Amino acid sequence: MCGIVGYIGEKNSIPILVEGLKRLEYRGYDSAGIAVISNDSKKATSIKSLGKVSKLEDKVEQTEIDLSSIGIAHTRWATHGEPSEPNAHPHFNKNKTLYLVHNGIVENYSEIKAKLTKDGYEFESETDTEVLVQLIDSFIKKGNTLLKSVRLAISEVTGTYGIAVISQTEPDKIIVAKKGSPLVIGIGNGEHFIASDVNALIGHTSRCIYLEDGEIVEVTKDKFAAHTIDDEDIKKEVEEISVELDAISKGDYPHYMLKEIYEQVNSVRDSFRGRILMDEGTAKLGGIERIAERIANSKRIVLSACGTSWHAGLVGEYMLEQFTGIPVEVDYASEFRYRNPIVDRKDSMFFISQSGETADTLAAMKEAKRRDALILGLCNVVGSSIARESEAGVYVHAGPEIGVASTKAFTSQLVVFALISVLVGRKRHLSLIDGQEILHELESLPKKIEQILKLNNQIEAIAEKFVNAQNFLYLGRGYNFPVALEGALKMKEISYIHAEGYPAAEMKHGPIALIDENMPVVFIAPKDSVYDKVITNIEEVKARKGRIIAIASENDTEIDKLVDYSIKIPDTIRMLMPILSVIPLQLLAYHVAVKKGLNVDQPRNLAKSVTVE
Ligand code: G6P
Repeated sequence: MCGIVGYIGEKNSIPILVEGLKRLEYRGYDSAGIAVISNDSKKATSIKSLGKVSKLEDKVEQTEIDLSSIGIAHTRWATHGEPSEPNAHPHFNKNKTLYLVHNGIVENYSEIKAKLTKDGYEFESETDTEVLVQLIDSFIKKGNTLLKSVRLAISEVTGTYGIAVISQTEPDKIIVAKKGSPLVIGIGNGEHFIASDVNALIGHTSRCIYLEDGEIVEVTKDKFAAHTIDDEDIKKEVEEISVELDAISKGDYPHYMLKEIYEQVNSVRDSFRGRILMDEGTAKLGGIERIAERIANSKRIVLSACGTSWHAGLVGEYMLEQFTGIPVEVDYASEFRYRNPIVDRKDSMFFISQSGETADTLAAMKEAKRRDALILGLCNVVGSSIARESEAGVYVHAGPEIGVASTKAFTSQLVVFALISVLVGRKRHLSLIDGQEILHELESLPKKIEQILKLNNQIEAIAEKFVNAQNFLYLGRGYNFPVALEGALKMKEISYIHAEGYPAAEMKHGPIALIDENMPVVFIAPKDSVYDKVITNIEEVKARKGRIIAIASENDTEIDKLVDYSIKIPDTIRMLMPILSVIPLQLLAYHVAVKKGLNVDQPRNLAKSVTVE
């Protein structure tokens, strides 16, 4: 959370910075700000605004600013201090000659603040970040260069940071440093771009370097020099960015979320494309090929993640246990790291993350590393921290996901779990025929998704009836229990309606007390081995006058006698059903939120990439 952008070169930095912030806005949108240094006077100026980047853009347009070819910018997700202009970044020193943007948390900020206050420093904001800029200032005042001052300051910091710093005293450079929060430098011709992720670089350059923890880089328009925090030089490898501008634009869709829901026809295909070995009834996953045997011989597989990725892990658990026979556990990353987890080198651990940057997942991964487990990443964003710090892994290939509520990354994560189940299963007891059946069914999914998307108007009409609902209950069994959780999460995230997901059979142990004529209950009830049991649960809700929406199989006409609304989807094998059954729930949440007039792509208080604990 929080997005950082920087530019140094020959061009006017301001439009580049503002455009960069817009592309990173999914990381936070409480406030935004820029700081630039004038080409002529070499004086620094800053403009900040509460709220979205568009507000900052308006303010920038109304302000006369000298041409500046160096600047830094920030979009904030508040941690320390409420969203306000004084708390917005960039933060600065007393003379307004030194500016800094920060993504992360300075954990020992009160200690540093107390020390600086003793030395006569005053603070304008309630943020942890201001402490860092003042600390750098104190080292500059002792005669150190900007680079050395940043290095000395971050040596005193505990916590996490991705920072970019500019100073009037050395107006031809940006100093950047990273620990725990992502930073990438885009390399152009006579110019450099700095960003929290590559989305902000697309269209400017296709070459970049990713910073590692503990690295500090001096960036000028023509070159960059990377050092460790102990001042040793480092040689960085230049990498290629393969994402095109189209992939991150909204196209003709009103929202990224809707675009991404519709993209699932292709993103699901992209996730299995080139990975199916039909003749052998197995999958080819280059990233884990060399250690596939070790995974197959694991004593246990542990899946760890947050949010929607955790729900994908729950479906993954069902798949892996069914097809590999290896015991599987799913753990919230945030819980895993704060227990004394029993994990050793006989365990394989998958860390699932769309962004590959979620702080809790990254920290859980580091803890598992210390305990010698096999560390595997299952990420969407190429080159992300989790992808780079795992021993091996599989990219889900969903393409850039920008809407804060995850949709296409979820279905792609499930495709990858199906492929891993087949690959590992075939190394154990899964037969050729069974492996081939799964793979054939996988190949048939894009067409079935197309069919489901044609139900959009019907789902929109159903959404209309529930715009004023105060609560929603989502119920499913077996493979569709995690889908119930995910459906409820989508509704909560973007429509701000309280929603809960439950295993259908657990309903009678509590949630049934909530059911009356005002409670909408969404059942995920395809015709599978637990269908009859789910029908019994539907009867129980109906007897108590709950309003029922069912996600049902296309040939199921019986269910219409019991429910108020049914959304009929094509059949597939049980393990793959979540990839289909979740799509109507994504659309339902989307339409309810749009009808409530809410910002579905940037729901309040949320951020797409949670890089703080
Ligand atoms: C945030 C996002 C969710 C996402 C979760 C985990 O809460 O709003 O959509 O599922 O983080 O993110 P990750 O990138 O690790 O999958």
